Amino acid sequence: MSSATLDKFIADAGSLARAHTEPADCVAAIAPLMHELLAHADSFLAPQHLRADPDHYARNAIYVAPDHSLSLYAIVWTPGQWTPVHDHGSWGVVGVLRGMLEERSYLRAGSHDAAVRDSDAGIELQRGGVILIGPGSVTSFVPNPDHIHLTGVDAARPQAVSLHLYGRHMNSFHLYDVAAGTRRKVSLEHNES
Ligand SMILES: [Fe+2]
Repeated sequence: MSSATLDKFIADAGSLARAHTEPADCVAAIAPLMHELLAHADSFLAPQHLRADPDHYARNAIYVAPDHSLSLYAIVWTPGQWTPVHDHGSWGVVGVLRGMLEERSYLRAGSHDAAVRDSDAGIELQRGGVILIGPGSVTSFVPNPDHIHLTGVDAARPQAVSLHLYGRHMNSFHLYDVAAGTRRKVSLEHNES
């Protein structure tokens, strides 16, 4: 699946990512492109990008760079579907196409201390704020050093569809057990285009 709009977004986002090695600069530069992409999403989204799954939120790959430096997904959220608490190991730029996506953030105490940061146990997470992201809105995150959150759609809301661009092939992430204070790396499934 390809279109001039999508091809230009991928090319421009790739150029900006290479030009901005600081993740905060990178997402600041790319966020307006994502906002623009949302307005033209109908020009490239195909039925395979909009597949839902009754068992869990559906990650449909739109583009994965051959060198795995960039990846773009359409995620379809059936009401009541949520991610686990996770991080990304990458910057990310997220735009909501339709529905209302909800993000709840977590803060990790002491995460700027290397000994704490690299440990998979003894993780103290504090709940942060919530953000509701409606159609046309763009949010982003950077690994400073982590960005830990969960995302989903309330059971009482309609289905949501969002576009997610990451600075790597998003095929794994850390999943956190908040009560146990642990995390583990898990592989992530996605539907191929
Ligand atoms: Fe996430």
